[in-house]
Amino acid sequence: MVDTSIVTKFAKPDASWFVESRLGMFIHWGTYALASRHEWVKSHEKIPTDAYMAYFNHFDPDLYDPKEWARLAASAGMKYFVVTTKHHEGFCLWDTKHTDYKATKTPYGKDLIKPMVEAFREAGLRVGFYYSLLDWHHPQYTVDRHHPMRDNAAERARNKGRDMRVYAQYMRDQVRELLSNYGTVDIIWYDFSFPGEDGKGREDWESDKLYELTRTLMPNVLIDNRLDLPGSADFVTPEQFQPRAQPVDERGAPAVWEGCQTFSGSWGYHRDEHTWKSVPQILWMLIDGVSKNGNLLLNVGPTGRGEFDCRARERLAGIGEWMKRHSRSIYGCAAAPPEFKCPPDCRLTYNAKTKRLYVHVLTWPMKHLWLTGDSYVQRVEYAQLLNDGSEVQIKGIEPWQNENSGNVSREGAIGLNLPIIKPPADIPVIELFLK
Ligand code: GLC
Repeated sequence: MVDTSIVTKFAKPDASWFVESRLGMFIHWGTYALASRHEWVKSHEKIPTDAYMAYFNHFDPDLYDPKEWARLAASAGMKYFVVTTKHHEGFCLWDTKHTDYKATKTPYGKDLIKPMVEAFREAGLRVGFYYSLLDWHHPQYTVDRHHPMRDNAAERARNKGRDMRVYAQYMRDQVRELLSNYGTVDIIWYDFSFPGEDGKGREDWESDKLYELTRTLMPNVLIDNRLDLPGSADFVTPEQFQPRAQPVDERGAPAVWEGCQTFSGSWGYHRDEHTWKSVPQILWMLIDGVSKNGNLLLNVGPTGRGEFDCRARERLAGIGEWMKRHSRSIYGCAAAPPEFKCPPDCRLTYNAKTKRLYVHVLTWPMKHLWLTGDSYVQRVEYAQLLNDGSEVQIKGIEPWQNENSGNVSREGAIGLNLPIIKPPADIPVIELFLK
């Protein structure tokens, strides 16, 4: 039986660097990049391991340049990255001693993780390792409802001879390598549990032991919430949707959270998927998240030749263009104090250290933006556009109503005088200096 009390034996790490960073890069890379039709292709298409080995046998990312990846991430404003050291297919990107199903045994022949970690660290980003709890290659991993062989009666029958305890030990051996040989690891992203019928959860993973090992080797590493072990999460991970409010933890308290999102629908490189989000849409996701105290982990699925594909590069450049001038409303920011009411078609973020409030204007209004409430009236001292530092004049209650206008009560509001033309930014931001 899993000992759930294990979580109380360790101090919780300090997540403040994580919360201040707000934007990170997820990287899903493996031999599925060659199939180019989703990282779950082995399961979706129920491909037997023999046939799936074609991607391993042809894996040769000759254009892989981790310094270029790190440069692209840093210039998009990302402060940390999380890479799939192993995804559900079971392929390992590092030179593990515990299997031959690893990068060093492919035609490419080299460890992919070491140079990646070095390049990203050098570019100033913190390091995160994603490690899949699922493994569709390991011989002792039993066939379950997600497994590629789920409908194969003979493979099902072989479950009797399989021992998940051997697999759980294999995971610990691998995690020991990852947390011992690559310097400080800031995040470990275990993925994922699906307890219940024909599923897997903490008893299968021996989550208590995995948790204990993780905390022992790397006391300050942040652990995600997918181990199926109550109290083990340092942050929660809404995926592929935008939460309507800040998520809560198991006890109902506001949780540290990170939304993980794809550019399109797939995490792994997907050649023929065309539902790519636009730059303004992605910025909206980032801003909306920060306005609810959350981070954004934005995923790139590099190609089989080892590059970020052109659609990703184009999005990253657009994000970087905006972040260059607007990151002040993101880094170190959180939800605005509740006394500041968010105006329509806007999102607010707040930096408690600098006492600045940021109004992200999603739809550019005509001439005036009204900020309603005494807190604005009493506390806003100066306002400027963030893209160019140009003053936004603050008008109180204006006597501009003429006989045709009727009377609208503008009590307890300030009006910001905006230019008619929307500033040249995907989402313009007004910076308010508070008294
Ligand atoms: C899911 C998927 C997976 C992806 C992950 C990212 O659990 O199984 O393919 O890696 O979410 O959050």
